[in-house]
Amino acid sequence: MRIFHTVSGLRDALTVHRRGGLRIGFVPTMGNLHDGHIALVKQARETCDIVVCSIFVNALQFGLNEDWDKYPRTYETDCGKLRDAGCDYLFHPEDREMYPNGLDTQSRVICPTMTDVLCGASRPGHFEGVTTVVTKLFNIVQPDEAIFGIKDYQQLAVIRRMVEDLCMPVEITAAEIHREPDGLAMSSRNSYITAEERPKVVVLKQSLEWVAEQIKAGQRNFSELETAGKRRITEAGFKTDYLTVSNSKTLNPAAEDDKEITILGAMYTGGARLIDNLSIKLK
Ligand code: PAJ
Repeated sequence: MRIFHTVSGLRDALTVHRRGGLRIGFVPTMGNLHDGHIALVKQARETCDIVVCSIFVNALQFGLNEDWDKYPRTYETDCGKLRDAGCDYLFHPEDREMYPNGLDTQSRVICPTMTDVLCGASRPGHFEGVTTVVTKLFNIVQPDEAIFGIKDYQQLAVIRRMVEDLCMPVEITAAEIHREPDGLAMSSRNSYITAEERPKVVVLKQSLEWVAEQIKAGQRNFSELETAGKRRITEAGFKTDYLTVSNSKTLNPAAEDDKEITILGAMYTGGARLIDNLSIKLK
């Protein structure tokens, strides 16, 4: 695996492959890699000739009181995992390489409406930071395909929409949610969960599953289901950020006759904010 810290270095290396007609796959990450990230890399390995991964803890997508400074950084271990997974190129820029003019005056990519709800409502500016850095990374790598996890459902939906709206020449592929044996979705932020909280946090997934079962059984009063789902989380001792029954594509509140529905949830433990989602197709 070759490692680059500069835009020009990576570009030069990839140009050769692009001119040679090789298919370039790209997996952007913020590091602290777990099996969920590695599954994305392996998925890219299967469909692409060249696999590029990036590790960059993007300050632009963190709020002022969020965890940018304490976000787990495990570069050496990450490199080993990427090598083992068959990654060809790692891009690991410094902040000043990505934002040479500083954050405040950085040009930004805005994807309106869809980013105002769910995670966007409680993390203002977050998705603007994501769409901006992903656009920059796409321009640097110029991949044929980029792989994103369904775990961050809203992020995936926003990026698909951005790519469509701005005619970006990249194919977006989704990867399944990787989970711990008890069902907790893997996340770098799971390290903030305490030993006491750990057995109980699976309530998030279980609440989404409960709502999905009710819908499959014919229940269509979605707001009642959302309230009941949130109650389960509260009863387990956690604070809910949101639990919604949404249209899978637009992320708007689901209509009674919608066929593709995604139930999304976010909750707070003492030190972490956890998210999860579950999609269902109705006949
Ligand atoms: P990060 O949280 O590091 O996630 C990188 C990629 O891994 C994302 O596409 C995310 O959805 C995926 N991922 C994380 N946990 C997963 C799991 N349990 N199962 C499957 N996929 C999982 O998402 C980001 O970084 C950033 O916002 C980024 C896109 C890199 C822009 O900065």
